[in-house]
Amino acid sequence: MITGAGGQLGQEFKAMAADYPQLQFYFFTHHDLDILDEKMLEDVSQNISPDFIINCAAYTAVDKAEEEKSLSYRINTLACRSIVNVFEKTNTKIVHFSSDYVYHTCFGKPLTEDCPTEPKSVYANTKLEGEDIFRNSTIPSLIIRTSWVYSPYGSNFVKTMLRLSETKESLQVVYDQIGTPTYAFDLAKATLDIIMNIQKYPDKILLFNDVYNYANEGVTSWYDFATFIFKMSGKKTEVFPITSDQYPTLAQRPKWSLMSKQKIINNFDLTIPHWYDALERCLKNLKD
Ligand SMILES: NC(=O)c1ccc[n+]([C@@H]2O[C@H](COP(=O)([O-])OP(=O)(O)OC[C@H]3O[C@@H](n4cnc5c(N)ncnc54)[C@H](OP(=O)(O)O)[C@@H]3O)[C@@H](O)[C@H]2O)c1
Repeated sequence: MITGAGGQLGQEFKAMAADYPQLQFYFFTHHDLDILDEKMLEDVSQNISPDFIINCAAYTAVDKAEEEKSLSYRINTLACRSIVNVFEKTNTKIVHFSSDYVYHTCFGKPLTEDCPTEPKSVYANTKLEGEDIFRNSTIPSLIIRTSWVYSPYGSNFVKTMLRLSETKESLQVVYDQIGTPTYAFDLAKATLDIIMNIQKYPDKILLFNDVYNYANEGVTSWYDFATFIFKMSGKKTEVFPITSDQYPTLAQRPKWSLMSKQKIINNFDLTIPHWYDALERCLKNLKD
C-alpha cells in the first residue's frame, strides 16, 4: 500500500508497478487517504490489510515549514504515530522516507547512519521525530534517509532549472552545498527490490527497524548539478556559482549531505546507479 501516491516518489511507484507482477499494489493519493485521519487509516487497514506500507506521504515544503510548523509536525511526525497505532495490530511492515537534512555533522567524509543527527530546520526536526516513532514501534520499519529527490513528476530542482532556462540567459546557483541527487525512479526501484529481497529471505526482516541512507552514487554541488542539467539538455543558460550566504532561505540546509550507501547496499544486495547516469535517464523521460 502506497500513501502519498500523487507525489513525485509515489508516482514513480505507480509507473513501475507493472514491472513487479508478484506484488499487488494499492495506491492512495492525499485525496484518497489523509494520513492525519486515523479513522480513514482504520478503514483502509480493515479493507486491505497490507503486508507493507510504503509511506510517501509527507510535508515537503522545507521553507514554508518554518511558518507552518504545526502542519509540518502533524504530517511528518504525528501521522507516523497514527500509522503505528492502526497497523501495529495487522502484522504490516513499513518503509518510511526521511531526509539528509537530519545531518549537519561529519564534514569531509561520507555520512554514515551512526553520524550524530542535528536537525536545524522545522522540516528536519519533524522528519527526525517521525523516524523515531517508527524506530521505537513494534512494527518492522525500514527508514530510508534520502537527498535531493527529483523526477519527471511534481516540482523539483531539475524541472525548475529547465523551466527557468526558457526565460533566463544566466542563473546563480549555490556551490557550497555538497551532496548527491536522487532520481525518485531509482529510489522506488530500490525499495521494491528490498521488498522482493525480504520475500526471498524472510529473516532479513530483522534488518528493518533501522535507518538506511539512499541516494544515487557520486557527489556534486547544486551548481554542478545545474550545469550538467543544462549541458545534457542542450540549454545555453549560463550558471554562476554563489555561496549559501548569497542565497538566504527561511530554512537552513546542511552544507554537507554526502551519504554513505554501503549499509543498504550490503544488507539488501542493491546496486546504485551514478547520479550522472540517473540524470540522463530522467531528462530522456522528460523529453519523451
Ligand atoms: N523531495 C526531496 O528532495 C526529498 C529529499 C529528502 C527526503 N524526501 C522525503 O521523501 C519522501 C517523498 O518525497 P516526495 O519528493 O515524493 O514528496 P512530494 O512530491 O511532496 O509528495 C508528498 C506527497 O504527500 C502528500 N501528502 C501531504 N500531506 C498528506 C496527508 N496528510 N495525507 C496523505 N498524503 C499527504 C502530498 O499531497 P499534496 O501535494 O496534495 O499535499 C504529496 O502527494 C518524503 O518523505 C520526503 O520527506 C524528499
